[in-house]
Order: sequence, then structure tokens, then C-alpha cells
Amino acid sequence: MERLKVMTIFGTRPEAIKMAPLVKSLERTKEIESVVCVTAQHREMLDMVLRLFDIKPDYDLNIMKHGQTIADINIAILKGMEGVFEKERPDVVLVHGDTSTTFIGALAAFYQKIKIGHVEAGLRSGNIYSPYPEEMNRRLAGVLANYHFAPTMSNYQNLLREGYAEENIFVTGNTVIDALLSMIKTDYCFKEALLNQLDYEEKRVIVMTCHRRENWGEPMVGIFKAVREIAKSHKDVEIIYPIHMNPSIRVLADELLLGLDNLHIIEPLDYEPFANLLNKAYLILTDSGGIQEEAPALGKPILVLREETERPEAVEAGTVRVVGVQQRKIVEAVSELLENKESYDQMANAVNPYGDGRACERIVQCLLYMHGFVKDKPEFPWGE
Ligand code: UD1
Ligand code: UDP
Repeated sequence: MERLKVMTIFGTRPEAIKMAPLVKSLERTKEIESVVCVTAQHREMLDMVLRLFDIKPDYDLNIMKHGQTIADINIAILKGMEGVFEKERPDVVLVHGDTSTTFIGALAAFYQKIKIGHVEAGLRSGNIYSPYPEEMNRRLAGVLANYHFAPTMSNYQNLLREGYAEENIFVTGNTVIDALLSMIKTDYCFKEALLNQLDYEEKRVIVMTCHRRENWGEPMVGIFKAVREIAKSHKDVEIIYPIHMNPSIRVLADELLLGLDNLHIIEPLDYEPFANLLNKAYLILTDSGGIQEEAPALGKPILVLREETERPEAVEAGTVRVVGVQQRKIVEAVSELLENKESYDQMANAVNPYGDGRACERIVQCLLYMHGFVKDKPEFPWGE
């Protein structure tokens, strides 16, 4: 084999953020020919990341349509990938995480008997409906994959328990930490006037995000009512909510969150300002997977607006608490952190259970090893 042709497939914002540094590492590796295919399951939120990392996809399926169901997305990806694979015939495809793009990208590759590497493999909540449909997407991608790049030892153990062969699982750390570390700057200056004018010393800035499907409906009503109550009862707090572009979420936010001076709903931020906003925040409220991995590295307490998490490592380390979706519980947990300095200090520890910034380098080494470009199995100090 002359060069190893590796096709990276991604489609949503979080996959793009976590795959971007890997694409850069693949491009720098002389033994590898890197090909990028985006499904554009997200359009604007994907393009923001592509611009930031200066990635120009070789293929763009452009599948996003407003109001489409998961079935619509999956059909469009499966059909779109077929043509791309027939033309390109990569040696390996890399998919990431737990979205429709992940699972269907892997399924399409399987149909063409192309080898599959699953990046961010082995996370499990144990409940197939939470996160929904992500827990199932991740499991199904695992079944289809030949190589499993597990961020942590506990993800590795999950895969072993499910019977995956040890020699195909590699503990690499999470590529999100590679991405995050390249973004954080001391004295970062925001382009957004609101974020630049905030007094991060005198005010306590709470960053929130909320978008997950299992929270649509009643749980999200509980979350939004809690946030409103916190904004009203704590005038020294500024809440910043860069809202997801999903219209179902925007309708509810317009109904429940408008009209308060210290609660700001803003458009999604580019990753660089968002990462630096996390770094300046006092506290994070989120149902996002990626932010649960990023914020611990920055020493910020995180309250997770979900009933369960497939990312227990930072909970065990004490910087993350899973508070659920009930209004009263969220208000109590936030008030505790705002009013009790000791509780706050106990959670505000920088811990890095998810990576050390070298995950992409490790994944590239594994691919070279599995395809005979290097003789010895890479030895990783990470996670052991
Ligand atoms: C998707 C993933 C979810 C992931 C999330 C990250 C699935 C089933 N869901 O959920 O796992 O956590 O992305 O954000 O794979 N939209 C835009 N512009 C954008 C992005 C979205 O307008 O740049 C709107 C569109 O109307 C789109 C809708 O949001 O149809 C929903 O997008 P979709 O990918 O179906 O689901 P998400 O909730 O974003
Ligand atoms: N993020 C961003 N801009 C924003 C909000 C989030 O760049 O306005 C980043 C965040 O730092 C994290 C990722 O987007 O890396 C999380 O994406 P999302 O919440 O859409 O998905 P999830 O993590 O739940 O899969």
C-alpha cells in the first residue's frame, strides 16, 4: 500500500469540533492521504467550525433541511455516502461519537466493506433512551466498527465488558481536549460587545446550553423555569445562553426566557469565543456532552441538566453534578453554589479525566500500526 487513504466523516457541531484537530493531524502525516466528507447534518453550526479550523471538505452531502426527522436524516446520509464511497474507496473511514452521521456513516461504510474507526467509543449511560437517540447510535456504531478509540479507561472497560476484542480498543483521550487547548487564550478579547462588556469579576457569569431531544417538552420547561427563577432571585448573576439553532428549542425559549435584564439569549458562538467564555464563567449549566468534558479542564463547576450521564469521570472527580431537569432541584443546586463558597470551591477544581491534548496524535499512530506502517504497537501512558 502506498499511502493509507483515511476518510473522516462528520456532520454536526460537536463532531466537527472533535474531528477538526484529528483532520489536521491526518493532513500532517506523510503516510496518510486525508479525505474529508461532511454530511452537513448541521449547516451553519458546522460551517462555523470548518472556517475556524480552515478545513475544506472534499465532499459535502448538504443534507440539512428544516423540520426533518431522524429517519429523513438517516436516509439522506445513507444514500449520499453510497456515491462518495464508490468514487473514493477509502481504506478506512473515521466516524465520531453518537449522532445520526456517526451511525449511518458507519453503516454505509460497512455496506461497502470499508474498515471503520470509531472515535470517542465506549461511552455508556446504560439507558438506551437517555441520551436519546445517542446512546443507541453509539452502541450501533461500535458494533459496526473495526477499531475503537476510547477516550478513557472506563470507556475501554465498557467495551471489554460487551465482548469487543482487546487488541482493537485503544485508549487515546478525547480529541475535544486537543481542540479546547488550542482555543484558550489569556486576556481573550470577544468580538461580541455583550461578552466584552460583562464584568467577570463583579458579576457571576453563568453559561448555559440546552438542546437535547430527551429534554424536549416537560423537562425543558422545568429547566427554563428554573433558569428564569435564578435570574430573578440573583441580581448579581448574568446568565448567557447561546441557543442551539433547532427551532423547537427557540420557540420554548421565546415563551419562557425573554424579558429579564440579566438573562441573555444569544446566537450560537464560534468555538473560540465559546471556549473562552467557558473559561471566564463562574458556573456552567448544560445538557451538552462536549461541555461536560471541556469545563472540568477549565476548573469550572458544571451542573448537568439530565437524569443520567455517559460521562461519569468528572462526576467522580467532583467537578460535575448531575442535577436532573426538575425546576426545584436545579434552583437548589445553583443557589447552593452561588451562596455557599465552600461548596463552590469543592467543585471548582481543574481536572482532566478526558484527555491531555494528545488524543489525535495517538489515533494517527494506531491507524499506522493497524495498517502495517509501523511495526510496534503504540504504547500509551494515557489513562493507565
Ligand atoms: C444533533 C444530534 C445530537 C447532537 C446535536 C449537537 C442526531 C439525531 N442528533 O441534534 O446527537 O447532540 O446535533 O448539536 O444526530 N439547525 C440549523 N442550523 C444548524 C444546525 C441545526 O438550522 O447549523 C436546525 C435545523 O432546523 C435542523 C434542526 O436544527 O433540522 C435539528 O438538527 P438535527 O441534526 O436534526 O438535530 P439536533 O437537535 O441538532
Ligand atoms: N459550542 C460552541 N458554541 C456554542 C455552544 C457550544 O462552539 O455556542 C461548543 C461546545 O464548546 C462543545 C460543543 O459545541 O464543544 C457542544 O456541542 P452541542 O452542545 O451542540 O452538542 P453535544 O455536546 O451535546 O453533543
